[in-house]
Amino acid sequence: MEQQIKSIEQEVRDFTITSNELLENFRLKFISKKGLIPSLFEELKKASPEEKKKLGKELNALKQLAEGKYKSAQEETENTADKPHEEIDLSLPVIPHKLGNQHPLSLTRYRIIEIFERLGFNLADGPEIEDDWHNFTALNFPPNHPAREMQDTFFIEKNPDVLLRTHTSNVQVRLMKKQPPPIRSIMPGRVFRNEAISARAHCFFHQVEGLYIDKNVGFADLKQTLYSFAQEMYGKDIKIRYRPSFFPFTEPSAEIDISCLICKGKGCNLCKHSGWVEIAGSGMVHPNVLRHGNIDPEEYTGFAFGMGIERVTQLLFQVNDLRLYSENDTRFLRQFRPVLS
Ligand code: DAH
Repeated sequence: MEQQIKSIEQEVRDFTITSNELLENFRLKFISKKGLIPSLFEELKKASPEEKKKLGKELNALKQLAEGKYKSAQEETENTADKPHEEIDLSLPVIPHKLGNQHPLSLTRYRIIEIFERLGFNLADGPEIEDDWHNFTALNFPPNHPAREMQDTFFIEKNPDVLLRTHTSNVQVRLMKKQPPPIRSIMPGRVFRNEAISARAHCFFHQVEGLYIDKNVGFADLKQTLYSFAQEMYGKDIKIRYRPSFFPFTEPSAEIDISCLICKGKGCNLCKHSGWVEIAGSGMVHPNVLRHGNIDPEEYTGFAFGMGIERVTQLLFQVNDLRLYSENDTRFLRQFRPVLS
């Protein structure tokens, strides 16, 4: 038995543990219940008392040696060996790169621009921070017009009057001063009004202004231009109507309605059961406005219109709540794709 103890001791010393697997093998071989060392303890029971004393000591030393080696190897392998590492699976499909998409109002704006460009209109631009003259006075607004009041207009300074433009019509006279007729331009942009925010109103929204000034421009040109636009935008079956109206900067003036796309003219919530939806204000440019733009009204005439981009978009994509356009919720914004021409 003494011999056995010696050779097992040598085996314990020679055993190299470099992985969890070898550690377990070591434990099974030497220390576990059915391992070599416990079986030697079993055998020791049969030995004489004297032998027991001597061999017991040696066996205990072997046991301590094996257990000590096991413990320190265990600590070491915990720190280093066989940590599970992520394997790269090259056959997995790639994580798709999310593509952004354009805002529905931008999609509509580009579509409007595209249609009017084909009708011969070019693109013009004007400032959002404007003076009273271009926003009101030059457009024939009388000094006491209610639109100038604080409840409608965001004034930045009251004297001199600096304000956030309330409509894109502010670009009209700027354009007239910049270039002689013929003028055939559209002017998209953001406008601001002091309104409580709801599903139907917002403190800012978007318009597209249109201006066509040349010799012999008449109301028929206005009608056909906007009819062509509506057909391109909404399809050949669209109906259009002109309602007499008033704007200080046009004479005569008309509001333009198109047949409701949601109920096809039968009557629904969007069209307030009238079958018609207003999309623009329009009219023949007032002679005073032409004069403010240094254009002789005896020689030139023109038409103008101002269209709400939100409204055109609502009809296109059937979105009823204006607030969705500025909340920047990507779950909403992700849903829109270009309108095909
Ligand atoms: N500026 C008007 C508005 O914001 C819309 C408008 C009406 C524009 C008639 C025009 C026009 O150019 O001729 O309500």
